[in-house]
Amino acid sequence: MAYTTVLTETRGRVGIVQLNRPQAMNAFNIAMLGEVFDAMEAFDRDDNIGVIMVTGNEKAFAAGADIKEMVDATAFQMIIENRVDTWDRIRGIKKPVIAAVSGWALGGGCEFVLSCDMVIASESAKFGQPEITLGVIPGAGGTQRLARLLGKNLTMEMVINNRTLTAAEAQQFGLVNRIVPIEGYLDAAVAFAEEIASRAPLAVRMAKDAVNAAFETTLTEGLKAEKRNFYLLFSTEDQTEGMQAFIEKRKPNWKGK
Ligand code: CAA
Repeated sequence: MAYTTVLTETRGRVGIVQLNRPQAMNAFNIAMLGEVFDAMEAFDRDDNIGVIMVTGNEKAFAAGADIKEMVDATAFQMIIENRVDTWDRIRGIKKPVIAAVSGWALGGGCEFVLSCDMVIASESAKFGQPEITLGVIPGAGGTQRLARLLGKNLTMEMVINNRTLTAAEAQQFGLVNRIVPIEGYLDAAVAFAEEIASRAPLAVRMAKDAVNAAFETTLTEGLKAEKRNFYLLFSTEDQTEGMQAFIEKRKPNWKGK
């Protein structure tokens, strides 16, 4: 598939999608938004891929939605084009999605990161929701996902007063899994992803599904979802293989079946 705004690459079982509008700090225009999800969905369908990674460049993961594309839009156009719903495509991805973030992750860029499953940040990463400075508010989940992660007060400060978080702060508040040096940040993120990609694929998928249930349902419903996925995995060859390998003191050979 030929893309114009993203680059794709595979390293082992890690499928990498790189946002590639450096002239616009990787701002998401409609084309890039469509292509990033097309590329991610293609990796999601590919049995040779275990983990999907999304990254930008050293200076910017993404500086949000493309302001130049939105400046003259009317409310009616925004509704008809339904831009915000496109961002929701990330919720349909079944494999783990890891964001490798360096530099700016602002507005929709920060919201994209918040929609990923794990985040590796370079020391230069900065996270923020500056929409208030444009006379609007986050529209791709920022108010909701930040509030769930950071609590109310800090979220209010970020959304209402454009407070940005450094990589260290983001890690302290649980938005970032690991901070790595800027130089080689993508290699470090891929090494992190490769470990996950080497695990039993169906169990990884069920684990992601179960954890996500915690954000959608009551505890009782979430526990039911976990139990269903746990039992379901006993119908896989990988469950027998994993437990047999433990007993035989050898490494399991996962089939994804
Ligand atoms: N949309 C369109 N173009 C953008 C952009 C954006 N979000 N962010 C940066 N650019 C463009 C700049 O206009 C500039 O282009 P020109 O060279 O043609 O002037 C180019 O990228 C380089 O940017 P800067 O010169 O501003 O670079 P800088 O290093 O001085 O600053 C920055 C970097 C702090 C990221 C700054 O560009 C910035 O503040 N960007 C806007 C961030 C923002 O407000 N994001 C929210 C967007 S709205 C949104 O995301 C809604 C939603 O919830 C979905």
